[in-house]
Amino acid sequence: MKKTKQSPSPALSANARTVLERRYLRRDADGKILETPEDMFRRVAQTIASAETRLETGTDAAKLEEQFYRMMVELDFLPNSPTLMNAGRELGQLSACFVLPVDDSMESIFEAIKHTALIHKSGGGTGFSFSRIRPANDVVASTSGVSSGPLSFMKVFDAATETIKQGGTRRGANMGILRVDHPDIMDFIMCKRDQRVLTNFNISVGLTEDFMKAVEEDGEYDLLNPRDGRLIKKLSARKVFEHIVDLAWNNGEPGIIFLDRLNRDNPTPHVGEIESTNPCGEQPLLPYESCNLGSINLARMCNDGDIDWDKLGRTVRLATRFLDNVIEVNKYPLAQIDEMTRANRKIGLGVMGWADMLIKLGLPYNSTDAARLGEKVMKFIQDTAHETSADLAEERGPFPNFNGSIYDKPGVRPVRNATCTTIAPTGTISIIAGSSSGIEPLFAVSYVRQVLDNDILVEVHPLFEQIAKEMDFYSPELMKKIAEHGTLRDLPEIPEDIRKVFVTAHDITPEDHIRMQSAFQKYTDNAVSKTVNFCHDATREDVAMVYQLAYRSGCKGVTIYRDGSRDQQVLSVAKSE
Ligand code: CDP
Repeated sequence: MKKTKQSPSPALSANARTVLERRYLRRDADGKILETPEDMFRRVAQTIASAETRLETGTDAAKLEEQFYRMMVELDFLPNSPTLMNAGRELGQLSACFVLPVDDSMESIFEAIKHTALIHKSGGGTGFSFSRIRPANDVVASTSGVSSGPLSFMKVFDAATETIKQGGTRRGANMGILRVDHPDIMDFIMCKRDQRVLTNFNISVGLTEDFMKAVEEDGEYDLLNPRDGRLIKKLSARKVFEHIVDLAWNNGEPGIIFLDRLNRDNPTPHVGEIESTNPCGEQPLLPYESCNLGSINLARMCNDGDIDWDKLGRTVRLATRFLDNVIEVNKYPLAQIDEMTRANRKIGLGVMGWADMLIKLGLPYNSTDAARLGEKVMKFIQDTAHETSADLAEERGPFPNFNGSIYDKPGVRPVRNATCTTIAPTGTISIIAGSSSGIEPLFAVSYVRQVLDNDILVEVHPLFEQIAKEMDFYSPELMKKIAEHGTLRDLPEIPEDIRKVFVTAHDITPEDHIRMQSAFQKYTDNAVSKTVNFCHDATREDVAMVYQLAYRSGCKGVTIYRDGSRDQQVLSVAKSE
């Protein structure tokens, strides 16, 4: 590790520094912080660049380290949290996303719980399909008893997670999937109605094309025992669909994922079937696969009101190389994961700061032009990432499972990575970058934060503050009023063109949310993390309509949230606090 202190980056906000100090920076045994944020970026850059030496690529590792360092310290790109926390340290586990297999046996279930604990300890999140577990009250030959069913086992996973904080820094996160044709599906759909249970799980119903067709035709579909494929009963598809909608309307869960669609895009069908995603839904993976994510800060890819395509292209190429190097230097928590991850070499490059970019370009988030530009930006990122992956394949070889993969076609250049792009939520890294998260619209232009001693702090979106000052309508009273209002919509003291551009999640319709999700999905190998916000008065029919729309417009899953429908809301505008 270099001993020289880096000059402080002007770009890091006080908030970012606080987050880094609390959870990311190295500490000694007494908890004393041993590095600055700049040292952290240096530690990460050096570790990830060291892959070049290991792979004997002939690239100048020191020069590459400097490029990686600049890209992070200038907040143009950040890798997922585990990379920032663990690179160059003893733990060395750099991935955010894992999927583990759960088979229909005690050994497999408790093996998965043990593996989950190891992954959570290292800062990763885990996804599982519980669809292979026989339903409740089925026979258990060895004990002549009855089975407990997937739901009761999920509670054991949940309890194990509760006791382990990820790397001592953040809570473990799980995704639980059950196929819609599992006999216990009705109980699964209901399982999070009580918000105090399964708090360490996000749950999603795995929908099939057959099921969606049956919903459309108002037909029945089969529930099958996964143990022997026996038909257990038939259900009305529409009734089950309405049940899902009802519960999601009630408090946002379950989400839905479209399994056939995930598998249509499975790059390595010869290796296995995709049955689950990571906790936030953006990364479909095979059992024992892991993936490391990284996000380009689009707010930093603008120049004078235009997109700086050259800089974006350069950043995509460098970030793709960075993420491929992560696979190389990563220390995997399990031998099976090591093997599977290196064989497919999936990476997930995505974006954050999309809403900020639109503001800088003067485009309202809820416009067709914005959605069109979303497609263009993501296509550019995807094409450039694939080209870079093909260049890396020439230099380092294609991913070992390449033969038989969807890329294995005459005339197609081999690639180094089975997937290149994913849109992550960027929950924490967007705070570090000081940008809007993922492809989400702004949550608020100005909001009130309650600090430790009940002091009220009004936080204003930096671009809005800057413009308000430049245009001479800034005042602390107005910022407070906006925070209370939650939207600029009915505030005539703000110029109309500014009101149009600073739209928030509450101003835009669910259809606008889906339009943006589907625009990005079109050019994303993996999936898109996105929450579709509904106002409190939205009806169940509104939710059902959005599910159908998401299905028709090519999305791979949907997460919805109706304002005020949960006891605890992570962020809320001032009035509801
Ligand atoms: O911003 P950051 O890198 O911290 O993470 P994110 O983009 O919000 O989430 C990306 C992925 O990290 C999630 O889908 C999970 O797989 C994982 N994650 C987790 O395991 N535990 C958390 N508390 C948050 C995220």
